[in-house]
Amino acid sequence: MMLTAIGLMSGTSLDGVDVALIETDGRRIQALGPSGYRPYSETERRLLRQALYEATSLSQRDARPGILREAEQAVTVAHAEAVASFVAQNRIAFEDVDIVGFHGQTVLHRPERQLTVQIGDAAALAKAIHIPVMHDFRAADVAAGGHGAPLVPVYHRALAQSLEREGPIVVVNIGGVANITYIDGTDTLMACDTGPGNALLDDHMFRLFNQRFDTEGRIAALGRVDEAWIANALALPFFALRPPKSLDRNDFAALKLGQMSPGDGAATLTAFTAAAIARVVPLLPKAPKSWIVVGGGARNLTMLRMLRERLAPASVEAADTLGWASDSIEAQAFGFLAARGLKGLPLSYPTTTGVPIPMTGGVVARP
Ligand SMILES: Nc1ncnc2c1ncn2[C@@H]1O[C@H](COP(=O)(O)OP(=O)(O)O)[C@@H](O)[C@H]1O
Ligand SMILES: [Mg+2]
Repeated sequence: MMLTAIGLMSGTSLDGVDVALIETDGRRIQALGPSGYRPYSETERRLLRQALYEATSLSQRDARPGILREAEQAVTVAHAEAVASFVAQNRIAFEDVDIVGFHGQTVLHRPERQLTVQIGDAAALAKAIHIPVMHDFRAADVAAGGHGAPLVPVYHRALAQSLEREGPIVVVNIGGVANITYIDGTDTLMACDTGPGNALLDDHMFRLFNQRFDTEGRIAALGRVDEAWIANALALPFFALRPPKSLDRNDFAALKLGQMSPGDGAATLTAFTAAAIARVVPLLPKAPKSWIVVGGGARNLTMLRMLRERLAPASVEAADTLGWASDSIEAQAFGFLAARGLKGLPLSYPTTTGVPIPMTGGVVARP
């Protein structure tokens, strides 16, 4: 049976809420609908940054001490607003939507402590939008000993199947953190976080240029890449680990650029993301033939150029050129995952999150 699902994603970049409609039975993509975006205000963003900082001391996933309670309410309200304007703009009746997939906002990801914390009140959201809401996608995986991340690979596989091209194909998502899905035929699905995505670069741009990100990679394009700095950073133990493996947004926040000029810093951080993605190649079963870039990082032209340089002779394409809505793929994925959750299909596998057996997940809150 086909389901109509709305997916909601607010990633580690803290930029805002992506919304997308998808029709699916949880296996096949029947149709992709419209998508939307509700950016966070500066005040909300500041609150979330503070929440990330305070969350480092959490030891229980459902505890909301201090500012985390306030941040959770803000996340819920932002998502309710995102859905309300999305259904209004696209004239969608809420009774025609079977399920909303609500990822929430990750404030802490510590798989080695079996702890991954997403804030957002699904029960309050379901009441506000009058649609059943699936949430807590990562909990079952983590409880079973998985990393709880990444969860998008099953959706990347469904997208890649529609391309009908020879593999291996890698879908690389450059959000706050970067993650890959390796797809070879229908059987091999492998995934992991590769290292930083945009978060280090965004933080650098904010600190030194008072900009939220390096638009199209223009600043990095003028800077000089410090290859020695990158080689040094890539010597961290994480990069040699075999997949599956996952990261917290701030796992590399302690890396300092030292004496570099602001422009050289932007170039070096952009190249670091590209180099960390390329570093995963020797850890994969076969060398990929083509790379498809999704997420906000696909808009960074310097990032794309550096990826091409480091992944040659494989091809590197931004997802938009294939007709995929690069900015909405993660939101679509959480609609797809909600449909899978309703049907009890696996969301994660030993090769994607390290969970011992294929694992379904998600909890439904009803209006
Ligand atoms: N026009 C652009 N040029 C360069 N980078 C961009 C552009 N638009 C978005 N980005 C980058 O993408 C990020 C948002 O990507 P997104 O896929 O939403 O990540 P997340 O899933 O972590 O929220 C921004 O923080 C920024 O770094
Ligand atoms: Mg985002």
